[in-house]
Amino acid sequence: MLEHFAAWLAATPLSAFVAGQAWVVPTVQTLHILAVCVVMGAAVVLNLRVLRVVERDQSIGSLAARFVPPSAVAIVILAITGLLMIAGEPTRAIFRSVFWWKMGLLAAAIALTAGLLAGLKAQGVWDDAQTPTPVAFRGLAVGLLLVWVAIIIAGRWIGYTEGWPGSPS
Ligand code: HEM
Repeated sequence: MLEHFAAWLAATPLSAFVAGQAWVVPTVQTLHILAVCVVMGAAVVLNLRVLRVVERDQSIGSLAARFVPPSAVAIVILAITGLLMIAGEPTRAIFRSVFWWKMGLLAAAIALTAGLLAGLKAQGVWDDAQTPTPVAFRGLAVGLLLVWVAIIIAGRWIGYTEGWPGSPS
């Protein structure tokens, strides 16, 4: 199925445009990296605040209101630029396990972050900057920081791993 998808994608005008214009891929990669900075910046600030390392005088609710919307926009930009990079080389990322690990980790990071914020709101730790964060949420915050770092490592390693045996090249 992936091979049919890759063959279909390679025959599209979009793939011809991305692969044919020398400026497109470096521009798209730059936008991808800039969007990573936004997502990572927000993830680091929010999770270090849950751990009460930074912004201790700010409530988690006020920080989430500032950092979650731009992260959501950045993840949409990451999806679009990521799909453009796939369109430019349909037989590259989608035939490498590290890419699917990255997508799985990203889904987990988004779900766990939503769970963390909803849980903190339910625990009444949302609006008051002085209330200590329950230990379970601090553990989740450490786990989330590790997951985001793993996503970056996976993203970088896509280009350094082999495609599945027998996959198109
Ligand atoms: C939202 C869905 C995403 C898709 C579809 C996607 C897809 C891709 C693709 C296709 C590449 C190029 C790999 C290659 O051929 O070498 C890439 C690179 C990369 N991605 Fe993503 N990505 C996504 C989200 C993310 C996120 C959330 C992060 C980190 C927070 C991230 C970090 C990276 C990094 C660090 C690279 C290497 C960039 C470089 O060195 O040029 N990506 N991504």
